[in-house]
Amino acid sequence: MDFPPPANHSEFMNSKSRSSDDRNHSASTESSRITIRLVRPEEVPQLVAMTQETIRRVNSRDYSPIQIQAWSDRVGTSDWKNRLAGRIVLVADLQGDPVGMTDLEENGHLDRFYVSAHHQRCGIGRRLLAAIETEARKQKRPRVYLEASLTARPFFESQGYRVVTPQTVIVNGIEFKNFQMEKIFDAVATGD
Ligand SMILES: CC(C)(COP(=O)(O)OP(=O)(O)OC[C@H]1O[C@@H](n2cnc3c(N)ncnc32)[C@H](O)[C@@H]1OP(=O)(O)O)[C@@H](O)C(=O)NCCC(=O)NCCS
Repeated sequence: MDFPPPANHSEFMNSKSRSSDDRNHSASTESSRITIRLVRPEEVPQLVAMTQETIRRVNSRDYSPIQIQAWSDRVGTSDWKNRLAGRIVLVADLQGDPVGMTDLEENGHLDRFYVSAHHQRCGIGRRLLAAIETEARKQKRPRVYLEASLTARPFFESQGYRVVTPQTVIVNGIEFKNFQMEKIFDAVATGD
């Protein structure tokens, strides 16, 4: 299964191409080389490593070293194979390597939304989110919801999500602030 770029992809690409900024140009080039596909069971170790590196290099902007250690440890010790079973797990693939992932539970809960620390702000998160929302709509889910980190909140807001409530969660005994966020699909979009 392959997931094409979202409908607004060409608008995104055009606006990027018009920019004279080198970062934007290389970001748009990179986004066009990304394929969104289902996870392969054998790539779990790569996903764990990619996720932990993102936590250490990207989320460390917003969380303390103790929090980053606890979060990374939790990712490393959880039972990925069982946790991913029964979910739709999408991967952003760059020439065979996973550079982003997310998964959707049956109840519309989005989990584990990460983009590689080496490929931030290239449009990969936008592509992944559009693809997983398409899957949620196909399943007639009325909404998608998640717990967004401080780091990810602006991304999800830019994609039409709203904060339901800020909250404090405990991970490996350490407190974290994050945000319950959701996007409610309208009846036309879900085909109801
Ligand atoms: C949040 C995350 C998934 C976004 O992925 P990404 O591929 O970098 O995001 P995109 O390039 O698709 O960004 C799309 C738009 O979101 C918005 N956006 C993304 N990151 C942003 C930021 N840090 N601040 C403000 N807006 C942001 C922008 O509008 C951006 O469009 P633009 O680049 O044309 O301005 C990524 O930063 C990440 O992996 N964060 C760390 C892991 C994490 O916290 N995951 C969530 C756990 S709940």
